[in-house]
This record gives sequence, C-alpha cells and structure tokens, in this order.
Amino acid sequence: MIELKHVRKIYGSGQARVVAIQDINFKIVQGEVALLMGPSGAGKSTLLTIAGSLQKPSSGEVVIAGQEVSKLSTRELSKLRLSELGFVLQAYNLVPFLTVAEQFQLVDRIKHNGNLSHEELDKLLQRLDIKQLLNKYPNQLSGGQRQRVSIARALYPNPSVILADEPTASLDSERAVAVGQLFQQLAQEYHKAVLLVTHDQRLETYADHIYQMLDGKIQVADN
Ligand SMILES: Nc1ncnc2c1ncn2[C@@H]1O[C@H](COP(=O)(O)OP(=O)(O)O)[C@@H](O)[C@H]1O
Ligand SMILES: [Mg+2]
Repeated sequence: MIELKHVRKIYGSGQARVVAIQDINFKIVQGEVALLMGPSGAGKSTLLTIAGSLQKPSSGEVVIAGQEVSKLSTRELSKLRLSELGFVLQAYNLVPFLTVAEQFQLVDRIKHNGNLSHEELDKLLQRLDIKQLLNKYPNQLSGGQRQRVSIARALYPNPSVILADEPTASLDSERAVAVGQLFQQLAQEYHKAVLLVTHDQRLETYADHIYQMLDGKIQVADN
C-alpha cells in the first residue's frame, strides 16, 4: 500500500542540520499491523509523516497505492490522502470549535462518499466508549477521550491505510487493549494496512511486525 525507497530526511542546515531518517526502505502492507518502536528522537514521527505524504523526503521515493507521491500535483495528493489515508496524530486532529458529532459531519462535507454508515459509526463509537461524548467540545474531553475521538475521526472516512502516532499514549490498559484489538481487526477483516508508532508494549500482541528504530534507521525486531 505504501512503500518508501531509500528515503532520507534532513532538517535544517549548517550547525542545525539533523539527519532525522536515512536510507529507509519500508513497506506498509494491506492486512497487517506494523509497530514502529524506538526511543524519542529516533525518527519515528518523521517516517510516519513522510509515509503519509504530510511532508516530503529530502531524497528517495514514496509510493502510495501505486502512485509515486513526487509526481502528483498538490490537488491529486490531497485527493489521494483523503481517499486512502487515516491519520491519528499526536496533536489530536480535532477542530476545537466543533462538537464531537460535528467532527464527523465535517468529514461528510469534505468527502461525500464511502464514509462509515450510521450503524457502523455507532458501533465504532460504542467500541471506543465515546458515544456519550457526541455533544461535547474537544476542550471538555480528557486526554484519553480526545485520543479515542481522534481515532474514530480518522477511521470514519474508511481509509485503506491507517497511520497512527502514539495512539494509546493517554489510555488505561483496558482501553489500550480495545484500541489494539480494533486495529488488528481492521487489518485482518477489512484488509487495511496499519502502521502504529508507539512506545506502548501493550500493543505488541496485536502486531504482525515490530520494527525498532534508532538514530534514523530501522531494524526488524520480531513477529
Ligand atoms: N521540524 C523539525 N525541525 C528540525 N528538526 C526536527 C524536526 N522534526 C524532527 N526533528 C528532529 O529529527 C529527529 C527525529 O525526530 P522525530 O521524527 O520526531 O523522532 P521520534 O518521533 O522518534 O521522537 C530528532 O532529532 C528531532 O529533533
Ligand atoms: Mg514522535
């Protein structure tokens, strides 16, 4: 679904130059959950955002759903992102002045087709235990609630690829397990490709592959 070929990312220049990731070859495959683990500063978020075409690599190639990202216009790229990719980012991607229910309605206004049905959304909200929050604003939610709403918001457009950065960081164990199971089911039953950047060892049981990242490089760990 997504392939990175010889991808490098360098931030800044001169004294401030940082090689965030180097010569990364990596695939995110349909039907599988991959975990990307490793210490802070290893380059995990950089890899995730490049894989999701939210930023450009300094060199190398990114292919999403068969399309080489660098060859697409801004417009084509937005369309690709909208139809294929679901992001759960650390800065929760909720609109502050919209209620939880309105976050989903906003998606309907941007993307008219292929979003979850009422029944499917209802099930998802129940599963994430956020159904009772539909009329609340993001600043009325706890960190964990916001995180779960953010996951539901990312899944609502029914993306084929899910890219999540520390999706369980503020969740207790029961809820972290529920989220792990949800991602696993999305991969196994709905053939989605899932990449989770995480420190959370509670998610390891749900992964098909675990990659360790250190100093901008990936090593395969196990599974
Ligand atoms: N926007 C940026 N500008 C400059 N340096 C950055 C930027 N984003 C990340 N970095 C640097 O790149 C390296 C990798 O960061 P990041 O991808 O955020 O790692 P991780 O998510 O594993 O903590 C770190 O040294 C970080 O300081
Ligand atoms: Mg990070």
